Amino acid sequence: MRITVVGGGYVGLTTGICFSHLGYEVKVVEKVPQKVSMLNEGVVPIYEPGLEDMLKDSLRLKRISFTTDLIEGLEFSEVIFICVGTPQQEDGSADLSQVEEVARLTAEHMKSYKLLVEKSTVPVNTHKLIKKTLQRYMKRHVEFDVASNPEFLREGSAVKDFLEPDRIVVGVESERAKNILQKLYEPIKAPILFTDPATAELIKHASNSFLAMKISFINMISDLCEKTGADVKLVADGMGYDKRIGRAFLDAGIGWGGSCFPKDVRAFIKMAEDYGVDFSLLREVDKINVRRIENFIEKVKNALWSLKNKKLAVWGLSFKPNTDDIREAPSIKIVSALLREGARLQLYDPKAMDNFRRIFPEGEDLTYARDMYEAIKGCDALLILTEWEEFKKADLERVKHLLKLPIVIDGRNIYEPAHMRELGFEYYCMGRR
Ligand code: UGA
Repeated sequence: MRITVVGGGYVGLTTGICFSHLGYEVKVVEKVPQKVSMLNEGVVPIYEPGLEDMLKDSLRLKRISFTTDLIEGLEFSEVIFICVGTPQQEDGSADLSQVEEVARLTAEHMKSYKLLVEKSTVPVNTHKLIKKTLQRYMKRHVEFDVASNPEFLREGSAVKDFLEPDRIVVGVESERAKNILQKLYEPIKAPILFTDPATAELIKHASNSFLAMKISFINMISDLCEKTGADVKLVADGMGYDKRIGRAFLDAGIGWGGSCFPKDVRAFIKMAEDYGVDFSLLREVDKINVRRIENFIEKVKNALWSLKNKKLAVWGLSFKPNTDDIREAPSIKIVSALLREGARLQLYDPKAMDNFRRIFPEGEDLTYARDMYEAIKGCDALLILTEWEEFKKADLERVKHLLKLPIVIDGRNIYEPAHMRELGFEYYCMGRR
């Protein structure tokens, strides 16, 4: 079976490379020629554990190829996965122009049956607009189907999430489309939920918004813990044992970022409003998240008093561990605020420094360190913004020795407060005594 994937971003590359790993022949259409050349050479332009090795294997077995030519992609297969970007617009809604373009060009060039599968995160009923566009621009009558098959990949564990998902959601309107997708996913052992396309589209937005809500909820509890002397980690454990709640996504910290939650929550709010449904619950979820940054800066100021000319180390810039992605990362706003306060920063991240440098070039007040220990040398405090494994395993005696003052302000709760105190640190974390 052959598969075409349109869009060589996070979702498209993971989808294409994983399907080729499962034995399918895959062609990925990507607009940017430099990316296509890199990929054809076996280089993945994003950092995602495991993906590059799988790409190299698939290239060797000639199971995957990359092109800038959409028409070549359309001719390659009857199943077209749409994995293009749906960025946020000024009013919070999703910009669907790239999805529209794929639908229009498909209509103009298709000569035989096509199944268009939306994988990009789109507002409910986008499948209807795709269908309308296909009908409108079609040059001769050709049969087609449009299906919704949202992805639930997390950056940093995308390969595992694709090959061993909790569930596969497929929204279809015809038996033909259902059979194709059922067959395609046969090698993956996971429950498949078949629905209509609108329901599948909604499942994606509802899932991401629910997870964001869980995090904002625990962050609100974290604030209360700080005022009352309770411990948010134990509150989360206690809640998490209840199977109806579950422990996942109850880690308090400096809030959610990334290319999905912020954009999806806002798009969901806007869409619900357009349909006349009051989603003020999600507005609060978003507001709580925005306030995490001020809350953290306050914590730094309470610990250090004035930040002017203070030398601070920052560990972690990516929006979460195991990725080089800094889109909507809390670090961007936190670093900006610290610089505004007059602090001098020494930054370190295992993977995201190149991306961060494009927004914050090196200068008098901001330098990038080669490793985590170099970053803390002579600093008044260490700030932790991402919970990378390497930070959890740091030699804390060495950390204490290298810092000017043994102050750690941890936005991700990676150490045990009692242990830090025993080691002689002044340790500030989120919602814990
Ligand atoms: C998220 C969803 O988890 C995926 O299921 C979905 O497919 C994806 O968006 C998408 O729509 O493409 P991702 O953005 O990669 O995946 O990252 P998450 O692991 O969900 O983390 C998002 C943010 O929440 C991170 O900034 C993380 O630090 C934060 N987070 C997560 C917390 O602050 N606390 C937690 O307990 C969990």
